[in-house]
Amino acid sequence: MKLILLGAPGAGKGTVAKLLTGLDGSVQISTGDILRAAVAAGTPLGKQIESLMKSGDLVSDDLIMGIMEQRLQQADCEQGFLLDGFPRTIPQAEALKKLLEKLDIKLDMVVNFNLEREVILDRLTTRRTCSNADCQAIYNVKSNPPKQEGVCDKCNSPVIQRDDETTEAISHRLETYNEKTAPLIGFYENEGLLLNVDAAGPSEVVLTAIKEKLAEAS
Ligand code: AP5
Repeated sequence: MKLILLGAPGAGKGTVAKLLTGLDGSVQISTGDILRAAVAAGTPLGKQIESLMKSGDLVSDDLIMGIMEQRLQQADCEQGFLLDGFPRTIPQAEALKKLLEKLDIKLDMVVNFNLEREVILDRLTTRRTCSNADCQAIYNVKSNPPKQEGVCDKCNSPVIQRDDETTEAISHRLETYNEKTAPLIGFYENEGLLLNVDAAGPSEVVLTAIKEKLAEAS
């Protein structure tokens, strides 16, 4: 499967991506996870982007394209990939189109997660994430808490709130999404690749909707 997962912060892209990876070995590529790992490791890239991410701004298109050009050529992408949080701007979408043509890769579909703002705000303020950069498992204190409070089920690391989960940063991320990322819906509609899914139901229901559409399209 070669999919782009598109949607506002908190719409459930990362959660569903992790479920989709179990279907056929496609890898989840989350630009947010890659960038957070760089921040946690204190690399030069991490130091450069730390304050920007904390405030909910996007990092530059050139930087993201540099990361993705390398990542998409790694061997584990041959089986398929789920792009989670990328592309995020029209220039990124245009650059990705050229890159995929160059690599002779065809996308199956762009899944757009639709969700009301109220639900998004609720999910973002109740989300918890594993602090281990190699794990980054996603929890929710309401819908999917870890078995032991504050401890990751998978790797036993502390489960925390992300740095960009302050009220201010969340509201800035949603504005940024509306201004810079939402126009991608029209872009991919024009490309004939868009699949809209209602992301309000349980993640397994969202997963089933995607599987059915993929089966119809193949
Ligand atoms: P990124 O990490 O990509 O964050 P995001 O897009 O804001 O997405 P989220 O991870 O917040 O939400 P999600 O849709 O994955 O929701 P989740 O599954 O966790 O980006 C972070 C930052 O990195 C950006 O602000 C930017 O600075 C930078 N960046 C990243 N990519 C970039 C790019 N391409 N260009 C430039 N900058 C970039 O779910 C949310 C919560 O809801 C969880 O608690 C979950 O348990 C719960 N939940 C999920 N699904 C359901 C459900 N169906 N029912 C009930 N609860 C649910």
